[in-house]
Amino acid sequence: MKYLISTFVLLLSIHASGQYTPATEAKIDSLINLLTLEEKVAMCHAQSKFSTPGVDRLGIPELWMSDGPHGVRPEISWDSWAHAGWTNDFSTAFPALTCLAATFNPELSYKYGFALGQEARYREKDILLGPGVNIYRTPLNGRNFEYMGEDPLLASKLVVPYIKGVQENGVAACVKHYVLNNQEKWRSHINVEISDRALYEIYLPAFKAAVIEGEVWSIMGAYNQYRGQFCSHNERLNNTILKGEWGFDGVVITDWGAAHDTRQSAMYGLDLEMGTGTDGLTTSAENAYDYYYLAKPFLELLRAGEIPEEVVNDKVRRILRTMYRTNMNTSKGFGKMNSNTHSEIAREVATEGIVLLKNESSLLPLDVNTTKTIAVIGENATRSMTIGGGSSELKAKYEISPLVGIQKAFSSATILHSMGYASGPSLYGETIPTVLDADSLYKAAIETAKKADFIVFIGGLNKSYQQDCEGADRLVYGLPYGQDELIKELAGLNKNFSLVLVSGNAIEMPWIDEVPTILQAWYLGSEAGFAIADIITGKVNPSGKLPFTFPVALEDNAAHHFGELSYPGDSINQYYKEDILVGYRWHDTKEIEPLFAFGHGLSYTQFELTKIGADQKKYALNDIIFLSCEVKNSGKVAGATVVQVYVGKEKSKVERAKKELKGFKKIYLEPGESQTIEIPISINNLAFYNETISGWEVEEGAYTIYVGEASDKITREIAISVK
Ligand code: GLC
Repeated sequence: MKYLISTFVLLLSIHASGQYTPATEAKIDSLINLLTLEEKVAMCHAQSKFSTPGVDRLGIPELWMSDGPHGVRPEISWDSWAHAGWTNDFSTAFPALTCLAATFNPELSYKYGFALGQEARYREKDILLGPGVNIYRTPLNGRNFEYMGEDPLLASKLVVPYIKGVQENGVAACVKHYVLNNQEKWRSHINVEISDRALYEIYLPAFKAAVIEGEVWSIMGAYNQYRGQFCSHNERLNNTILKGEWGFDGVVITDWGAAHDTRQSAMYGLDLEMGTGTDGLTTSAENAYDYYYLAKPFLELLRAGEIPEEVVNDKVRRILRTMYRTNMNTSKGFGKMNSNTHSEIAREVATEGIVLLKNESSLLPLDVNTTKTIAVIGENATRSMTIGGGSSELKAKYEISPLVGIQKAFSSATILHSMGYASGPSLYGETIPTVLDADSLYKAAIETAKKADFIVFIGGLNKSYQQDCEGADRLVYGLPYGQDELIKELAGLNKNFSLVLVSGNAIEMPWIDEVPTILQAWYLGSEAGFAIADIITGKVNPSGKLPFTFPVALEDNAAHHFGELSYPGDSINQYYKEDILVGYRWHDTKEIEPLFAFGHGLSYTQFELTKIGADQKKYALNDIIFLSCEVKNSGKVAGATVVQVYVGKEKSKVERAKKELKGFKKIYLEPGESQTIEIPISINNLAFYNETISGWEVEEGAYTIYVGEASDKITREIAISVK
């Protein structure tokens, strides 16, 4: 009896505060001492598609997870990928993360993360399976739309506040997919071979920032292999780098089905195994949850003493830590779902992320009072973009289409619409062509366009298989469904033509010289139509900047320059032969003119960058360069631009990119207004990863600081020297 009372009292004290603090570690230790070996092992793997078991006996709750990076996924069934068919799991669809990245706005990223975390908390999800920060290496990658572009600093600066926002709700963010999951083709096994320098300088930084600055509570191991070991149980990635060098104290979760071996899962840093059996309750035993790699096989090795109990204790400790931060955190909020605030944030991110790529003779913005007839052509004017795409799919409470947005904004104009082309249903893993006749769609669009003063073509890609969708890559760089011909003919019909691309990837533009204005509108979520209309009417002045390069041709892209072994690999191995020269790093260094450059984005106003300077002293380690710059809005309307600071080193003992982004700041100015900004650049951040010492080194000598509004729009170069 005495024992029971003491356990009960202990449990009360354990659960009483429920807020994770260093003192919690003692409680975690005492819980671990109370758990049986079976209970410990059971906590390390799934009990259903998206949950792991707790321990009823001790009042330890289950952990519940849900996708995804830009909205809380509709409830999935207990033991299959089918939707559970709930009626209360509609969510706000926030813009996809390429749009968030294009805002270059860390403060906005925090608001985004907080709102998304509120929706996850409201749905009682303890782990939100996002954000994704895999680097944009090839324009064909089906999941680029879910990530934050090609530059490690941009992704790092935006992923940290996003994580802070989500976790403020007592919901764990789960940064993914750790690491080198930069394509969908052969994702479940392809083995990536890459230099340490490229790994540390390009592919790890956003994950490192998530862990060290963002203090992310969970991380998802990628499907692919690195140096012959699966990433979800990879000794170097998990033990040496993540938990060793970075001191990660949270939980490593597999991608669904990414575990392949018991001993490696046990010994190489995996803490929580999910999705190994596609339907764990229904098919044969080896699929069942109790037969997962970290289930019975793990228990047997522990019982046999082949694996020390401390190994499972460490996993349970990390899982319990996650619980004290989430479901057992008694000070977490109640969450919020589909609030007006969330809609406002979705619209704010969407309008701040849209990029004005081209605007010849300032055709945009369109005057809502004088524009009489607009022909809105293209399937993406009405096609839903919140469904499909794979695991980041959503069941949006509402989704304003571009057509509806334009109709509402131009309420006194005549808005004509014609589909122009058709793509067929958004399916996962297969494409079913449309039953509509392409030729008649095409002709109808031309006829419609002839009746209008202004043509707005809304095309791009979509969330179908082999488009912007998980599980496969695009097969071609150009637009699908015959859009190129239609765009050319429409632009030839009427110079008052604006192209709106709804997509998450760069595309080929054979008609670039015939199209006067182009807006890059991402997957914008619930508020898509309102945001696109806000930009077209000038209600909001575009300020987005490209988070990745648009090459003219696919072979201009670094990954594709080196042929099959570089992309997509030989189906077994893949070699990142471009090394550190990813994206604009490649285009600048090899002098390959891009179609549109990283950091590019126009405005309806103009800015002048003057008085650009930095102290001319000799800088040493740990010094900070304070780059100052006066920014003036010399145009007629309010707007925002992003001052970007790149640094390069011409003479170096190692190969380097011509320049690399080392700082940026977004600034909002009224017409005629000037402001002086200061962008701090730490000398330590100029270091390169020196493979001979397996560490970072700041080379002394001369460096060049490039300051401008895009990687190909540099206003001033400043020489500095480091001793
Ligand atoms: C998917 C995705 C991952 C997602 C998980 C659960 O395969 O790769 O991003 O979070 O499985 O749906």
